[in-house]
Amino acid sequence: MSRVAYVNGRFVPHAMASVHIEDRGYQFADGVYEVIAIQDGKLVDEAGHIDRLDRSLRELRMARPMGRQAHGLVMRELIRRNRVRNGVIYMQVTRGVAPRNFLFPPAATSPSLVMTVRRTDLFPTARLRDGVRIVSMPDIRWKRRDIKSVGLLPQVLGKQRAAEAGAFEGWMLDESGFVTEGCSSNAWIVTRDGVLVTHEASHEILNGITRQSIIRIAREAGIPFEERAFRLEEAFEAREAFLTSASTYCIPIVRVDDRPIGNGHPGLLTAKLRQAYAAYAASGRTV
Ligand code: PDD
Repeated sequence: MSRVAYVNGRFVPHAMASVHIEDRGYQFADGVYEVIAIQDGKLVDEAGHIDRLDRSLRELRMARPMGRQAHGLVMRELIRRNRVRNGVIYMQVTRGVAPRNFLFPPAATSPSLVMTVRRTDLFPTARLRDGVRIVSMPDIRWKRRDIKSVGLLPQVLGKQRAAEAGAFEGWMLDESGFVTEGCSSNAWIVTRDGVLVTHEASHEILNGITRQSIIRIAREAGIPFEERAFRLEEAFEAREAFLTSASTYCIPIVRVDDRPIGNGHPGLLTAKLRQAYAAYAASGRTV
């Protein structure tokens, strides 16, 4: 089955899909993106992701490429054409194609919208059973990390460094030594006292849609929760650690910088939250 991409109003064979060399996403990283999981053919947390896309666009004074309802229809059609039951849809909006100039292009310039779909394993058995390793690194990003910008060079370097160290993800540290988040995920610990902790939503981090759903699930289950930054030292003392993102849901962390977390095995609360999130995803509910 050949893959199909969506590029500015057209469904095209993936191998032939292209944008112009003067697309501002290409030249300035002048664009934003979203990744939404597809579980059993259904978009997971769609409303949250599309709300965040709208917010990112607003913050950068960029126009929406099409109405929300039409966008929803096109996403579904792309998923249908690719026959993907479990995977992710990627969408990117840039300020469009214009001669290279730092200033915004003329108002008549249309934003570019590109979307692709691919299969992924949303339930990686070994990773969930064994947990993953993390390495820490300085957070060298800009100061508006709440915007899901396509400018991802620090994360490219960070994830490469993590992979070369045999780790699954990098945790980025601010100048005071607090963990901001993972290169492409939010960071969590469960303290010795069973309190769930993750960095507060601010300009310092991307307010993950999975993060927001996990917070809601934890609140509903009466799990003690604190929204605050934590240092590595606190993680080393923690009972559990995990990461969340649209493409991974909730993955247990068993080592950070070669030091074991808790008993060195995936935690029970992590498994419980993951299960609850997967059930929410299966329900097709969106809040
Ligand atoms: N990454 N923090 C960062 C820096 C991220 O890039 C992501 C998502 C998250 C988690 O957000 P969410 O739960 O909304 O996916 C947190 C996506 C999956 C990616 O870049 O592929």
